[in-house]
Amino acid sequence: MTQTEIERPKPNGLEGVVAASTELSHVFGDIGKLVYRGYDIHELAGKASFEEVAHLLWIGHLPNQEELHELERKFGENRVLPEAVIEGLRQVPKGANPMDALRTGVSLLGAVDEDHFNDEAPTLDEAIELAARFPAILATFSRLRDGKEPVQGRSDLNTAQNYLYQLTGEEPEEKHWKSLETYLVLLADHGLNASTFTARVIASTDSDMASALTGAIGALKGPAHGGAPAKVLDMLNEIGTAENVDAWLTDALDNGKRLMGFGHRVYKAEDPRAEILRGMAETASTPEFFALSKTTEDRALAMLDERKPGRKLYTNVEFYSAAVLAAVGLPGDMFPPTFAVSRSVGWSAHVLEQASNNRLIRPQSEYIGPTDLKYKPLDER
Ligand code: ACO
Repeated sequence: MTQTEIERPKPNGLEGVVAASTELSHVFGDIGKLVYRGYDIHELAGKASFEEVAHLLWIGHLPNQEELHELERKFGENRVLPEAVIEGLRQVPKGANPMDALRTGVSLLGAVDEDHFNDEAPTLDEAIELAARFPAILATFSRLRDGKEPVQGRSDLNTAQNYLYQLTGEEPEEKHWKSLETYLVLLADHGLNASTFTARVIASTDSDMASALTGAIGALKGPAHGGAPAKVLDMLNEIGTAENVDAWLTDALDNGKRLMGFGHRVYKAEDPRAEILRGMAETASTPEFFALSKTTEDRALAMLDERKPGRKLYTNVEFYSAAVLAAVGLPGDMFPPTFAVSRSVGWSAHVLEQASNNRLIRPQSEYIGPTDLKYKPLDER
């Protein structure tokens, strides 16, 4: 293609552009439907374990008993972090954002694991290792910042149980790990979202799995993506009571702020995960907190409809994630990296898919600057 034949620039933010083919998941934005390899998310949430969903995404089908045991065994044996990663996490400032600690830990893991994360094609074993170690990295950082020593992961627990166990040093209550497990199932993959695209771009350069997931964590961190639920909790805490809802939302919108937990690039109907999480929040959180969340949601939707007619702004996954994760006992700043614990499976599945049929992802930009400037020596500028 010559310079003059180059296509016109794509829409801002690549909106509507199809940039990859995938068998992993799809967001049907107009009807609010999410599918993992053919299964509607409602089929899996509350029924499938996180490990079953990981098997589905990585290998292509829901596991039989034997396959599930084998995958659970591999998760279990990968939960212990290399000493160098624990030492590295000791150097992360206690006040750091846990997303930064996670990004640092995963990057370090890529550097210290001699067998994996090399120039060879990415493997399923690397995907399992990373998915098993995301919670370990986070729990280690969380304990260190609280002045406690890390707790070693256990191979007899599932991912949700073990994450809470490594965080607290105590076996979690069933209601807590089960809520967390459903949350992890709901967030595991979501089409070509910004962090998954990032992971695929990195994989397309034949880089390694740890690099791809390190980059993806960086993309997820922003509040336009996975950074929102911590801010939802801040918003609800600031609002405090039902009487304050209207005044708080009006002030935020008058000042041009975006309401966290609302709107989505692809969904122009309610996010199906929001619907499931709303139901979970109603059971899991205190009646007062759920009532405040629901009043805030109802008023926010009404105000957004009034102020942004036709934009189809609905509740997204992050709004009720906040209530569910708070009820599980996690602090607000651990919400975004807990999202990453789940999405590590989707990211690595996309890396494997990209590597299996790779072509370098390398778009072009439309150059809008000048072309004929002349160099002037320093003393003439
Ligand atoms: N609050 C107020 N107004 C909003 C919101 C919101 N949450 N979301 C969109 N809008 C408005 C925009 O200001 C814009 O108005 P305009 O047409 O008058 O300029 C219009 O709706 C369309 O918004 P866009 O910016 O085109 O939407 P985009 O697809 O780029 O953004 C995004 C999607 C980033 C999620 C946005 O809705 C947002 O910022 N939401 C709040 C943050 C959030 O909840 N993030 C989590 C997303 S879910 C996830 O990634 C897991």
